Amino acid sequence: MDRRESRRQFLKFMAASPVMALSQSTRKFAGLGDGPITNPEQAINVFDFEPAAEKTLPPAHWGYLSTGTDDDGTLRANRDGFDLYQLRPRRLIDVRRIDMSTRLFGERYETPIVIAPTGRNQAFHADGELAVARAAKAKSHLQMLSTVASTGVEDVTAARGAPIWYQLYARYDWEITEALVERAEAAGCSAIVLTVDLQGGSNRETNKRFAKLDERECTLCHEPVFQDYIRTKPMFDGLNVPEGSDYGRSLSWDFVRRLREITSVKLLIKGIVRGDDAALAAEAGVDGIVVSNHGGRASASNRSTIECLPEVVEAVGDRMTILIDGGFRRGTDFFKALALGADAVCIGRPYLWGLAAFGQAGVEAVLEILRAELALVMRQAGTKTVAEINSSFLAERFRVQ
Ligand SMILES: Cc1cc2nc3c(=O)[nH]c(=O)nc-3n(C[C@H](O)[C@H](O)[C@H](O)COP(=O)(O)O)c2cc1C
Repeated sequence: MDRRESRRQFLKFMAASPVMALSQSTRKFAGLGDGPITNPEQAINVFDFEPAAEKTLPPAHWGYLSTGTDDDGTLRANRDGFDLYQLRPRRLIDVRRIDMSTRLFGERYETPIVIAPTGRNQAFHADGELAVARAAKAKSHLQMLSTVASTGVEDVTAARGAPIWYQLYARYDWEITEALVERAEAAGCSAIVLTVDLQGGSNRETNKRFAKLDERECTLCHEPVFQDYIRTKPMFDGLNVPEGSDYGRSLSWDFVRRLREITSVKLLIKGIVRGDDAALAAEAGVDGIVVSNHGGRASASNRSTIECLPEVVEAVGDRMTILIDGGFRRGTDFFKALALGADAVCIGRPYLWGLAAFGQAGVEAVLEILRAELALVMRQAGTKTVAEINSSFLAERFRVQ
């Protein structure tokens, strides 16, 4: 056999071999076949849940889950931002015991990984927020509940079996805001998280495109106008929510000060991306910040949250609790945020992918993978506790301004 023939035979053999089949499938799918995973145990990382969720959901709901704003530039930026930082691991440190526990406002959590508030979870799975709460309980994670959740705060708190944090949209009249805060506090929530990044509205083109692909009649399940639909959510039961919404366009720091006065639990603002705004929040008596761009679904800023974090930490890191979200999918992503000064990190879409594909079991699997990845990078870096993770473990990649 000449060399050319033997090479041809080898390529033929490789093309038919299971090794090649596996490497082809892992380009997109972790399932051993030619499609998305069919049970949570098959997942190798959290990205494996994304195609499984897409396959399960009707197009309009998938569009709602996955959309960014405009051409999804901020969504991509959130992921790309992590590449600006590299790790500087330490060597020869005994890392047999890793402690990921974290304290937020004196409360101890097993890890710094927090469940971000996301609306209408029953659009992804019939068990919705209750499945998320049960998974959070099983894995001992802090959960934040959205104002526009499919289930009321009392039932979710009961399913979580511990106080949760309540995310507040202040798009509505003051009386409604006050009633929502009172109800959340009565249910035992230990913090109110005011979201401020949608004040100008958002142009969710991916959402619109997928909605066009959906042949079902949306009005069979819910009102065609988004704001009228939102009014039917359980947190608004018994409240007279007016038609339409301007996303609270007139909101100002006066509103925050007023909210501070009526809130007896911790108060955080979610959606801050600048140090000067964080300083204003501190002056208004706010206890914490969630550095967030709504997972790339609010302004088309094209700036990742990990890039926003340093200026917020510099402005208020010594006096406020700082959380961050936006594109966190890997243990190394969490590690980088902690090294830059975040106290905890929230995830949005990854747990929704798990929920959509496999319900509670999917959410648990996503949380488990992320914890394992964070533990791995902590070991590799030589950091035994979250408190030991600091900026000395990061190098910043040169970037063209
Ligand atoms: C489907 C969906 C619904 C969301 N709903 C809310 C919400 O009701 N309130 C809120 O403050 N943030 C909401 N967010 C933003 C998340 O709290 C969080 O900021 C974002 O998902 C984090 O980015 P990630 O999805 O890349 O992890 C939502 C995000 C998604 C994906």
